[in-house]
Amino acid sequence: MKMFNATMKRRVFTALAVILFFAGLCKPFSRSNMCSGIVENYVAAMVLSAAGDALGYKNGNWEFCKNGSVIHAKLAELGGIENINVEDWIVSDDTVMHIATAEALVKAGKNIEPSNLYPLLAKKYKECMNDMAGRAAGPTCMNSCFMLNPATPNGWQIPFHKAAGGCGAAMRAMCIGLRFPRPDQQNDLIRISIESGRMTHHHPTGYLGSLAAALFTSYAINRKPTHEWGKGLMDVLPLAKEYVEDAGRDVSQNLDVWSYFEDQWHSYLEKRGILNGLSLPIFPEEYGVENRDQFYSSVSYSGWGGSSGHDAPMIAYDAILASGDNWTELAHRAFFHGGDSDSTAAIAGAWFGSMYGFKGVPKANYKKLEYRDRLEQLGKDLYHLV
Ligand code: AR6
Ligand code: MG
Repeated sequence: MKMFNATMKRRVFTALAVILFFAGLCKPFSRSNMCSGIVENYVAAMVLSAAGDALGYKNGNWEFCKNGSVIHAKLAELGGIENINVEDWIVSDDTVMHIATAEALVKAGKNIEPSNLYPLLAKKYKECMNDMAGRAAGPTCMNSCFMLNPATPNGWQIPFHKAAGGCGAAMRAMCIGLRFPRPDQQNDLIRISIESGRMTHHHPTGYLGSLAAALFTSYAINRKPTHEWGKGLMDVLPLAKEYVEDAGRDVSQNLDVWSYFEDQWHSYLEKRGILNGLSLPIFPEEYGVENRDQFYSSVSYSGWGGSSGHDAPMIAYDAILASGDNWTELAHRAFFHGGDSDSTAAIAGAWFGSMYGFKGVPKANYKKLEYRDRLEQLGKDLYHLV
């Protein structure tokens, strides 16, 4: 009898362990039935981010066109987004740097200790600068990568810089949210998005953009309702501040300019009526191409909407809130406007893919996309790591 009891106990224990193991695996995605098919969302996040970048960039013609109406007229002439084959539309610096972040995360594997992961990120960022011909790399990204010394101890650190508030850190951070999607991984997401961000953008407006892009990707892959994301960011910002204080690098310079990002986001969320994370967003009655151009410019640092760390994720978020699972609508709002359109597109594309996969996306928009194979593989590798 004693023997029987012991065997039964062992069996019950094993069965429980198996159930708990699988429950644990499914937990991050427990808001929906995403345990199956989630790998497609990882792949779509990487691929559609790059597709958005290529579409918004249009070989440089549209990133730097300051008039959204002109872009929309040209788009209509080309037959609308359904008709655009990206074969000859190269990806810009945003995607090359996003690939660099993802490759470092994959190479680091489970060892995400600073001494392992940070030099890998710095190495990838520095190396990817060799692939920037025709891709309009940002000046802050280029100058900072030049300063990185991945082979020397702490060579991944660069000093605070008052003009490093650009969107170059945000545009490449979405995959960090894919790598750390679970609430119990939030501290890693905060730490790694900030440190990878300030390898080029050592300014809160720059690296908090990286945090926002990563955090919202983690929300997207978990299907957190979009109107709750903004409140989530506001709740995480004090933790980010604590991290920066504890990390102890150029603390007073960082804290002196900390409030800009937070204030801008507070004011935006208030405007949309979603500061409490409960209400649904409110948009102006008239919110066409021209109104959006004006609005995007109004939330910007220097008139060019989406070019900074605070407003690139903000404009992408505004578009995601309004377009739901409609790719065309998302493209009209986040990819085609008079601001820094490739960066808002790269961020919004990743969030769309994380939530909806390739649903409703014309094949021509991504089938012959440059680096598609690499992006797909990185999506799969990140999924398997998680
Ligand atoms: N706070 C907010 N914005 C700032 C600040 C500040 N303190 N200082 C500068 N800016 P840039 P990147 C704005 O040009 O970040 C590719 O083309 C400034 O007004 O150094 O290295 C991508 O597609 C400037 O316009 O670029 C992106 O478009 C903006 O930051 C871009 O490069 C961008 O800074 C991202 O790379
Ligand atoms: Mg670009």
